[in-house]
Amino acid sequence: MATSATSKLLVSDFASTISHIPSSYVRPISDRPNLSDVASSGDSIPLIDLRDLYGPNRAAIVHQLAKACSTYGFFQIKNHGVPDTTIEKMITVAREFFHQPESERVKHYSADPTKTTRVSTSFNISADKILNWRDFLRIHCFPIEDFIQEWPTSPVSFREVTAEYATSLRALILRLLEAISESLGLERDHISNILGQHAQHMAFNYYPPCPEPELTYGLPGHKDPTVITVLLQDQVSGLQVFKDDKWVSVKPIPNTFIVNIGDQMQVISNDKYKSVLHRAIVNTEKERLSIPTFCFPAAEAVISPAHELISKQDSLAVYRSFPFVEYWDKFWNRSLATASCLDAFKASTT
Ligand code: OGA
Ligand code: NI
Repeated sequence: MATSATSKLLVSDFASTISHIPSSYVRPISDRPNLSDVASSGDSIPLIDLRDLYGPNRAAIVHQLAKACSTYGFFQIKNHGVPDTTIEKMITVAREFFHQPESERVKHYSADPTKTTRVSTSFNISADKILNWRDFLRIHCFPIEDFIQEWPTSPVSFREVTAEYATSLRALILRLLEAISESLGLERDHISNILGQHAQHMAFNYYPPCPEPELTYGLPGHKDPTVITVLLQDQVSGLQVFKDDKWVSVKPIPNTFIVNIGDQMQVISNDKYKSVLHRAIVNTEKERLSIPTFCFPAAEAVISPAHELISKQDSLAVYRSFPFVEYWDKFWNRSLATASCLDAFKASTT
């Protein structure tokens, strides 16, 4: 573990007081963002309109999803059914949370990734060798009544606004899982059934302005451990996706979400849909806020390639089956790395 050069727990509490970042945040030259090499094109990530998902055009939308999932692993959605006001309130209250005094934010501080509500910094502060320019609040949010008592009470509207947002996001995720299931040629409820009572977590990522964004990351390149991730972000760019051997920056569009395939979906789809590398970079000028909602299987759910895909395609299972909790423990026992966590779950070929 790297120790911070400052006595502050959170990067937002010293970021504006320095002109050079502490050495604990500086990446080796071979592992820097190389921002001048990044392709900037918001158009390269497909934008899918879900307005007619339950109308006569469903098959066409499912087809667009199939294409986006198999070629990008990332797409944006509009007319997704989450009200604009729900989104605006969520962004506002999240920003208010991070603008509170240090004493209020650090009340929730913990370095223990198993805690179901916590504020922390970097990715996994107990394992990161180089730190990341990010603070975050992470919560569990399904079933809401099991966790809401742990959530922050300041700002005063935090619980109410977050509960409304999380409920709306859960409904959206269920619609997406059905459509993605169909896009793989599976029954609508196939993926949902595999997952058991799926868990839902949220992160509120806060990236303060950084005096030397070329030397560090908000989050380094990684693949999500999820089934799918549905990301809300403010209007400040920072997310980049690895596509055709290049980093591509994703331009924020108001009231759209970015959806990406996570490792569990890669396994279920038997590699038809890939969990794609992505990262968050920081900038000198503006703070950035992003709010990913993570869909996970139940801990005891057994994840494996869908049988139908293996027999239909006459292809071998790429992965063995495993209880989700086995993957989860492996994921949190390490720092965020570009190496896929899935290598340990490959089917043996001998
Ligand atoms: C994540 C993530 C990207 C972003 O939290 O897993 O990839 O833009 N975030 O903050
Ligand atoms: Ni991610």
